[in-house]
Amino acid sequence: MKVAVLGAAGGIGQALSLLLKNGLPAGSELALYDVAPVVPGVAVDLSHIPTAVKVAGYGKDDLDPALAGADVVLIPAGMPRKPGMDRADLFNVNAGIIKTLAEGIVRNCPKALVGIITNPVNGTVPIVAEVFKKAGTYDPARVFGVTTLDVIRAETFIAELKGLDVAEVKIPVIGGHSGTTILPLLSQVEGVEFTDEEVASLTTRIQNAGTEVVEAKAGGGSATLSMGAAAARFCFSLVKGLQGEEVLEYAYVEGNTGDATFFAQPVILGKNGVEKLLPYGELSAFEQKAKDDMLATLEKDIKEGVDFMA
Ligand code: LMR
Repeated sequence: MKVAVLGAAGGIGQALSLLLKNGLPAGSELALYDVAPVVPGVAVDLSHIPTAVKVAGYGKDDLDPALAGADVVLIPAGMPRKPGMDRADLFNVNAGIIKTLAEGIVRNCPKALVGIITNPVNGTVPIVAEVFKKAGTYDPARVFGVTTLDVIRAETFIAELKGLDVAEVKIPVIGGHSGTTILPLLSQVEGVEFTDEEVASLTTRIQNAGTEVVEAKAGGGSATLSMGAAAARFCFSLVKGLQGEEVLEYAYVEGNTGDATFFAQPVILGKNGVEKLLPYGELSAFEQKAKDDMLATLEKDIKEGVDFMA
């Protein structure tokens, strides 16, 4: 299994690469690409960890060898936000970066499963899809916006509020990955009752959790460690799927909910990426309204990505 991390020397990239070095199946290869000159050093550093995962670093002119033959590509590259910014404010700076990286994937590993972390995810995933469409290599089953951070945050906050074992909490999170487009389905958490006030405040907290980190870091960036953990969890599921296991995850994909062109929904992962798109089930009146209210924002974010490529 070859996994390439694009933007491997950044805050998310380093945390993610550490978790992959420790958690990928024995015999895997980890290709670390970054434009930052420290990337060979990050690779050497990780290579001293005694696991059977081979690590190699690739500098700014070596995108092609980093991607050659990759089975999975994870993209945390790009600028993080600062206090006062929305994820959408990152579009202008990150759109060009994601386009260049997607073109590298077309040249070197068009069949890879691609997990996009670069914000604004609502708009960068459509850019990658458009690059692949232009090249004739687009397969919607292989392109994912990584929304696992919303899922792990929801699991954590629910467990804290209700005094539960976090390992037992399961919650669907659908929609997009920005503000109100993030929609946790609290009505579907098994065995847990929430008051209306709890639903309102938990939903807002999950939607604003990224901003909570940005403000706490006070100009030092956004979530890196929890994002690294979330992306590693998603990557391990992709890898298990490629190895023939069927795994349930939530991801922002070009799916079949009919809500928006791209929408986070439950998917079964397998040998070809998305093996099955699942329905997200019944919504409460609160969730239905929240979904209806956010769709215009999500569509606008998606259109920005599509228009950038047009
Ligand atoms: C997050 O959810 O923490 C990330 O998308 C980073 C951000 O800017 O919020």
